[in-house]
Amino acid sequence: MLIPPHGGALVDLRLTPDDVASARENAQKMPRIRLDRKEIDDLEMLATGVYSPLRGFMGQSDFFSVLERMRLKDDTVWPLPVTLRATAEEIDHIGTSDRIALENETGTILAVMELHERFLAERSSTARAIYGTDDPAHPGVQTLMSEGDFCLGGSLQVLDLPARKRFLPYRLEPSDTRREFEKRGWSRVVGFQTRNPLHHAHEYIQKCALEEVDGLILQPIVDDPKPDDVPAAVRMKTYEAIFAHYYPPEHSMISIFPEFMQYAGPREAVFHALCRKNYGCSHFIVGRDHAGVGNYYGPYDAQRIFSRFEPNEIGIIPIFFEVAFYCRRCENMATLKTCPHKAEDHVLYSGTQIRTMLRAGEPPPREFTRPEVAEILIEAYRTL
Ligand code: ADX
Repeated sequence: MLIPPHGGALVDLRLTPDDVASARENAQKMPRIRLDRKEIDDLEMLATGVYSPLRGFMGQSDFFSVLERMRLKDDTVWPLPVTLRATAEEIDHIGTSDRIALENETGTILAVMELHERFLAERSSTARAIYGTDDPAHPGVQTLMSEGDFCLGGSLQVLDLPARKRFLPYRLEPSDTRREFEKRGWSRVVGFQTRNPLHHAHEYIQKCALEEVDGLILQPIVDDPKPDDVPAAVRMKTYEAIFAHYYPPEHSMISIFPEFMQYAGPREAVFHALCRKNYGCSHFIVGRDHAGVGNYYGPYDAQRIFSRFEPNEIGIIPIFFEVAFYCRRCENMATLKTCPHKAEDHVLYSGTQIRTMLRAGEPPPREFTRPEVAEILIEAYRTL
């Protein structure tokens, strides 16, 4: 038996094929709002139930309840707002309409929204609540600041999912992963979030967790986040290579996580866990500085935040890991929990250090990652 979705049932906001044509015709007469990249990703995740139990972009009471107490107004745990933001001009453009059409960057209507509410949600205070900072250098704050000061709340009828061209075999919805887990006979599945090429520390914590469950699902972000992160197309090659050589196919699989990364650290860790619960995962790995960026969060803040909820309110079980490193004396991966040696024996590289090596044409060291991954990275950086 797989874990039930958050809120009890998997949401699907898509209209049946029979209803799409008439809905599209009606939508032509409605005022239109153009979605940005983050909102497009949110729409897809709302439509396919990744955000169950949400059924649309948040209204005022859910929004402020989430900011203040990381819960929807009905008390369900939910740590990040899911909003459709609008400028004052867009609010004028909508006028008194109570239904609006949501379009993509080329003008295709993806969804119709029953507009229940429009409200002011000032961005700096929102940023401080979500990210703990309103520093414009924080990439999540930057995205928020590029949007309007108002939010539009309401339920959605989805006509079309955003068209996707990349990574199609890995685009599994929660209903697909659940079916796949059942087919494989997995009931205890650990989810792993990443926005980086896998290194030994990732592999170590994944495999420690896998020892306790039936299967591992690697779910990388692919909507290329910060410009200095390794591009998704390159990362995907590294995932395929490392899985082909070092992961047992009967206990591991890859599918993408179609989120627009927010770098919200602790709040995003809980959010990532709840979304993975909807995909059918019973466990979720939270290591050092999960979903962090720069020095905005303490290395274990994303673990501590889970103690603010009762385990049954979250459902999925978080598995915490201390910082993992290669120890030259142990000749193995370890953490301070499992290794008695001194810091000078420990090999630990930051992402920035590795990217600097790659830009200088130096292969990442063997203590850092598998040679198959290093080879793909060095080749990719030659032509980037
Ligand atoms: S994240 O932004 O997607 O969280 P990343 O891909 O670096 O970034 O991390 C994926 C997961 O591995 C996160 O849970 C993170 O905490 C964990 N992690 C990354 N590096 C280490 C490490 N050296 N030791 C322990 N956990 C780690």
